[in-house]
Amino acid sequence: MSNRSLFIAGNWKMNKTATEAVEVLTALKENLQKFEGKLEIAVCPTFTSLDRAVQTVKGSNIKIGAQDISDKESGAFTGEISAQMLLDLGVEYVIIGHSERREYHNETDELISKKAKTALNAGLKPIVCIGETLEERESDKTFDVITKQVKGSLNGISSEEILKTTLAYEPVWAIGTGKTATPEQAQEVHQLIRKLLTEIYGEKTAEEVKIQYGGSVKPGNSAELMAKKDIDGALVGGASLKPDVFNDLISNAL
Ligand code: 13P
Repeated sequence: MSNRSLFIAGNWKMNKTATEAVEVLTALKENLQKFEGKLEIAVCPTFTSLDRAVQTVKGSNIKIGAQDISDKESGAFTGEISAQMLLDLGVEYVIIGHSERREYHNETDELISKKAKTALNAGLKPIVCIGETLEERESDKTFDVITKQVKGSLNGISSEEILKTTLAYEPVWAIGTGKTATPEQAQEVHQLIRKLLTEIYGEKTAEEVKIQYGGSVKPGNSAELMAKKDIDGALVGGASLKPDVFNDLISNAL
C-alpha cells in the first residue's frame, strides 16, 4: 500500500482582485493552521495576485500555485508568463491543461505535455488536468478519452518527474454545475489512471503519484470522495473561494 497523503488545492479561476485575494488568504491562513502536517494545501489565484499571495501565506501551511504557464522559456511571446517568472515569485505549483483552457484556448495534449515539461525543468510542480465531456461520457468514450489524455499529456515526462507531478481528474460535466461524479464513478476513472501510470512508470512509481478529483467538490461530499482508494485529494473551484467553506471541505475530507 502507498502512503500518499491528501493534497487539496483551490483553483480560484478568474475570481478575486489582488486586494481580495490577500483578504481571503489572510483568513485562510488562520483557519487552516490546525491542519499543519495533516495534508498538503495549495491555493491557485490569478497571475496578478500571485506576488502578494506568496507574501501573505509566508510561514503558513498554504502553498501557492498558478493556473497556467507558457511552454516557452522566454522571448517574443506577448502576454505569456514563464516558469522562471513564477518561480522567482515563490510560486510552487502550476495547474496545466485545465478543461477550460483545453476548451476556450484550444490546448492540446501535446501543448500540455510541453508545458508540464517546461514547468518541471524550472522546478515547478505541475497539476495536470484531464477529464471527459458529458457527450463523451454518454457515448461511452470516457475510458478512451482519459487514456488518450493521460498518455498524451504525460508524453516525455520521466519517472523522476512524474513523482513531482499531480494529476487531476475533472469530468467536464461536473465542473461548476453542482453535479458531482459519484464516488464510484470517480474511483473507476482514478483506478484507470493508476493503471495507465503503472503501464508507463511501473507499479512502485504509480503508487506514489497523487490523483486529485475535481468537479463540484463541497463540504458535503469531500469525505465520501476522499475515502476512495485512488482519490488522493481534490482540485476545488467554487468551494475554495470562501474561507469557511474551504475549511469545512478540508476538515470533512480528513
Ligand atoms: P468547481 O469546484 O467550481 O466545480 O470547479 C472545479 C474545477 O474546475 C477546479 O479546477
